[in-house]
Amino acid sequence: ARRGFSSSAVRNLVIKHVTIIGGGQMGAGIAQVAASTGHSVTLVDTNDDILKKSIKGIEGSLKRVVKKKFADKPQAGEEFLQKVLRNVSTSTDAASVVHGSDLVVEAIVENLKIKQDLFGRLDMVAPEHTIFASNTSSLPITDIASSTNRLDRFGGIHFFNPVPVMKLVEVIATSATSQETFDSLLNFSKALGKTPVSCKDTPGFIVNRLLVPYLAEAVRLHERGHGSKEDIDIAMKLGAGYPMGPFELADYVGLDTTKFIIDGWSEKDPGNPLFSQIELLNKLVAEGKLGKKTGEGFYKYK
Ligand code: NAI
Repeated sequence: ARRGFSSSAVRNLVIKHVTIIGGGQMGAGIAQVAASTGHSVTLVDTNDDILKKSIKGIEGSLKRVVKKKFADKPQAGEEFLQKVLRNVSTSTDAASVVHGSDLVVEAIVENLKIKQDLFGRLDMVAPEHTIFASNTSSLPITDIASSTNRLDRFGGIHFFNPVPVMKLVEVIATSATSQETFDSLLNFSKALGKTPVSCKDTPGFIVNRLLVPYLAEAVRLHERGHGSKEDIDIAMKLGAGYPMGPFELADYVGLDTTKFIIDGWSEKDPGNPLFSQIELLNKLVAEGKLGKKTGEGFYKYK
């Protein structure tokens, strides 16, 4: 069927042009997947050096994909790679590129004020129809959206690290998110080849709300002297079928990130024992042992 300005087309926006803000771990991954699935992507960060690094990272990651997917067709692989890279452009000024976007995905630093400032500015220049979405892990979407006048066209789209590998996307509706916006975000997630699940705007959505208290309790169990890190990891891998044990996973996620999430929730819900302080975690973070990324967390890495 022809796609015109029929009311159904307007109601269910097909997302073609995406602005992704933040070219770090998550933003670069989202950009890669969106470009690989035929979307035109503008990746935004604060300066050109960061953006160059993001593009290099995307290229390296794509090369690994191409090597596998086009193992016996290197020519087709090279063409795919170039086509995907042509789908990505970069900018250091979100306000000047957002005019052509159906969707803005924000993946910048996890700070409410900075996210609100960004969306508040963009709200004044973005087209009417443009949907805004945040990839935040721990901040309420409702709070981020409050700096804009498009509460009905604002939602959450929460990816998992590494984005090209992890199949899940949590799509989050606030009490003001319209059904049309929510459906567009669900369809966009599917168009990326992901499996979306529907979430409410509650702390941790689904995955982290279950995962973070589990990680915390694993550390507490160890602190009580009831199991070594190694044994707890082996137990959860072989006994629960998890691909990583809780200490391995916490090191992978980052101990600072894990602590940041627990602290944020505990501030909102002080008496909740699920979010109580964990001495060992605090100590490692204070010592700068943040996990894999710093070479040491619960374990040491080469
Ligand atoms: P990161 O630190 O790797 O990347 C953030 C990027 O945003 C940096 O390149 C930084 O220069 C840029 N940035 C900061 N302020 C900016 C601004 N005002 N305008 C434009 N660019 C700006 O962080 P990461 O890990 O990619 O996380 C980003 C967001 O994604 C956070 O909200 C985080 O909670 C969320 N998230 C992180 C996951 C993870 O496993 N790392 C998983 C799911 C969500």
